[in-house]
Amino acid sequence: MLKTKVTELLGIKYPIFCGTMMNISYPSFTAKCSNSGALGILASVMYRKPEPLRQALNELFNLTNNPFAVNVNLFPMLKPIKQIDLVKVMIEEGVKIIETSGHQAPEKYIPLFKKNDIIWIHKCAGVRYAKKAASLGADIVEVVGWENGGSVGLFDIGTLVLTPATVDALNIPVVAGGGISDGRGVVAALALGAEAALIGTRLLTTQECPIHDKLKQALLNATIYDTTLVMRSLGAAHRVWNNQVAKKVLELESSKIDQMEIFDIAAGSKSKLMYEQGDLTAGIVSCGQGVGLIHNIPTVKELIDQIMKEATDIVQNLFKS
Ligand SMILES: Cc1cc2nc3c(=O)[nH]c(=O)nc-3n(C[C@H](O)[C@H](O)[C@H](O)COP(=O)(O)O)c2cc1C
Repeated sequence: MLKTKVTELLGIKYPIFCGTMMNISYPSFTAKCSNSGALGILASVMYRKPEPLRQALNELFNLTNNPFAVNVNLFPMLKPIKQIDLVKVMIEEGVKIIETSGHQAPEKYIPLFKKNDIIWIHKCAGVRYAKKAASLGADIVEVVGWENGGSVGLFDIGTLVLTPATVDALNIPVVAGGGISDGRGVVAALALGAEAALIGTRLLTTQECPIHDKLKQALLNATIYDTTLVMRSLGAAHRVWNNQVAKKVLELESSKIDQMEIFDIAAGSKSKLMYEQGDLTAGIVSCGQGVGLIHNIPTVKELIDQIMKEATDIVQNLFKS
């Protein structure tokens, strides 16, 4: 059993966070993650309005008795939503752990978090942002390196360097993500000083992940070379699976076309089509370099058990010849 400050603080069995994934981290998937002993994180942005979110939270509370977090999305949106109303619903419904992620620190929500004893986790992609979140009262900071599936920030620093640099700069627990797909990655994150590992891409190829089988198969066949960074020129660099649409986005970026056209092609609604219908050229899908380390499609529980078995075996056998 690998107990850390984060497993103790959150009351989770394993030092693993299942990364928020838009159009994937619904109550059923989040509950599978939490029930496996990791921390599931619901993506609140999918619900957009208070009442649908309230329903989703009720569903989630019915599906798991284990701790889970709810993500507040602070990334710029084509159609912005009233986040504060969503945060109020989370508090009313008894959510205990809130994760924020995005291009800004959530200064205006912090008094609400503190007043209601929320454990506040902030996810970012740089030491500077991690320090800011810690100075504002974050309980835990997640940092994601350049290998990460989805938003990678501006600095191109890999997980191997970003994690210890953040640990050194902060007095609160750090969780490391970006490229972690197996027990080796979890042990590496802990060895770098993180108190848990954040895993996203690896979860895409699990049986319960609500994406089309065709996409799961495509990701299973992908190698470590099959991701690319799009929308960097727009200040919104994202690591995605390098399909035809990703290539098209890169082409449009270099031709300095109207950025709204690019945002339209890269929209979450197009990824949702890919997930639901298996049309692999409908849009882009966030995907980290760790996709190249995936070799099977287990259940979430089998995956988390397998990762933790591998991690504990490594720790027990380290330096034994
Ligand atoms: C398909 C997909 C969708 C994601 N959507 C979000 C999101 O909506 N919000 C967010 O903060 N992070 C999102 N992420 C990032 C993950 O929460 C997590 O930080 C990341 O996947 C960890 O790195 P890894 O993919 O290398 O394991 C997404 C990642 C993937 C792969």
